[in-house]
Amino acid sequence: MSFAPEKYVINNLNFIPLIPKHEIDVATIRIASQINEDYKNSTPIFLITLKGAVFFAINLLRYIKLDCEIETISARSYGQKMESSGNVKIKFESKNLQNRDVIIIEDVIDTGYTLEKLKQVISLKSPRSLAVASLLAKPEKFCTDIKIDYLGFNVPPKFVIGEGLDFDEKGRNLSGIYVLES
Ligand code: IMP
Ligand code: MG
Repeated sequence: MSFAPEKYVINNLNFIPLIPKHEIDVATIRIASQINEDYKNSTPIFLITLKGAVFFAINLLRYIKLDCEIETISARSYGQKMESSGNVKIKFESKNLQNRDVIIIEDVIDTGYTLEKLKQVISLKSPRSLAVASLLAKPEKFCTDIKIDYLGFNVPPKFVIGEGLDFDEKGRNLSGIYVLES
């Protein structure tokens, strides 16, 4: 059995179910089918942002039927807080992305600062194309102009965990998405 309690407590904060695992699976398969179609003449590179997007990436990649490559990139702005610091640190080993089709895999787009910074860093490596697949987005919190090519769900502007997303490094192993109880 996967781990899907009715309530999960971290540092005295209650998190309750928002999106069940089976809905995540349906959305993941829908996104994979779109990518399989859109990239059928390409060998894309999937760039997984650590650590939050690891679960979504693994689920998604199981349904990708293309020749593809996988790389990781690390982006950090939250630490132990629930708000983006706006100061995003990117760690990425120099990979040759020149003339390649790159798909960033993200867990959630919140303010959008992380995605903006990721796109800047990757664009410097002259890919042929750059797309974004994100499990979640909080459009009410976007601070920059955001385009998400493949999106699982829009969620309310609240803190969420599960499916790889954490609060203070906990909750990543929850099955399904949980939201901070208000
Ligand atoms: P942004 O830069 O504000 O868009 O935030 C992007 C990153 O912050 C995401 O990729 C997550 O790693 C983290 N993040 C944003 N919102 C949440 C949340 O609700 N739960 C857990 N992590 C979050
Ligand atoms: Mg992230």
